[in-house]
Amino acid sequence: MKSASPIRIAPSILSADFAKLGEEVRAIDTAGCDWIHIDVMDGHFVPNLTIGPLVVQALRPHSKKTFDVHLMIGPVDPLIPAFADAGADVISVHPESGPHLHRTVQTIKSLGKKAGVVLNPATPVEALDGVLDMLDLVLIMSVNPGFGGQKFIPSALEKLRRVRTMIDARVKAGGAPIALEVDGGIDRLTAPQAIAAGADVLVAGTATFTGGPAAYADNIRALRAG
Ligand code: DX5
Ligand code: ZN
Repeated sequence: MKSASPIRIAPSILSADFAKLGEEVRAIDTAGCDWIHIDVMDGHFVPNLTIGPLVVQALRPHSKKTFDVHLMIGPVDPLIPAFADAGADVISVHPESGPHLHRTVQTIKSLGKKAGVVLNPATPVEALDGVLDMLDLVLIMSVNPGFGGQKFIPSALEKLRRVRTMIDARVKAGGAPIALEVDGGIDRLTAPQAIAAGADVLVAGTATFTGGPAAYADNIRALRAG
């Protein structure tokens, strides 16, 4: 079940100090993160309001690492080009955030970006039917989207196993690998469970940023160890 790829850690800057975001991004970069996870919320698709394209653009010069932009906005289509221009590398969308998921994924790819689809705890894996072959990433939510610091929902593990099987079958048939990311409630206890279930990118907000900059490298190392 475990992924053949190395584990990548993607700190969610939702848990960073928003009064000094540039500094925080530099600190997690130096501390050894792999990707930087940016949670975009609109106060409508999810009950919280966070970061827009201007902030992504302002953060771009602070790190060369992959900007993994998780869009929790609806309708999502009109804002995708702005996040692409702002410097996103991976853009992930929820199937519920627009009327035509295939077209949305096509749009992301046409802008030269990597595309991801995000499954909420109640969204079945069948939502990937018809788009999986176009994807660079599948993101399994292990909390309901909207806030950091929530408790891990264990049913995400079964969903990870199912998607891991789908991805491995695709690779065996000659397809390109797809990253399998998990987001929500990832800490030193749940990280090994998610890795064993097939995740190879771990999003972690609280578990990365707890303790302030002096703790970031240890926090990231502990998650990667699985
Ligand atoms: C929730 C976000 C997550 C969140 C994770 O909607 O997508 O990325 O910030 O935070 P923790 O790791 O604290 O659960
Ligand atoms: Zn997220």
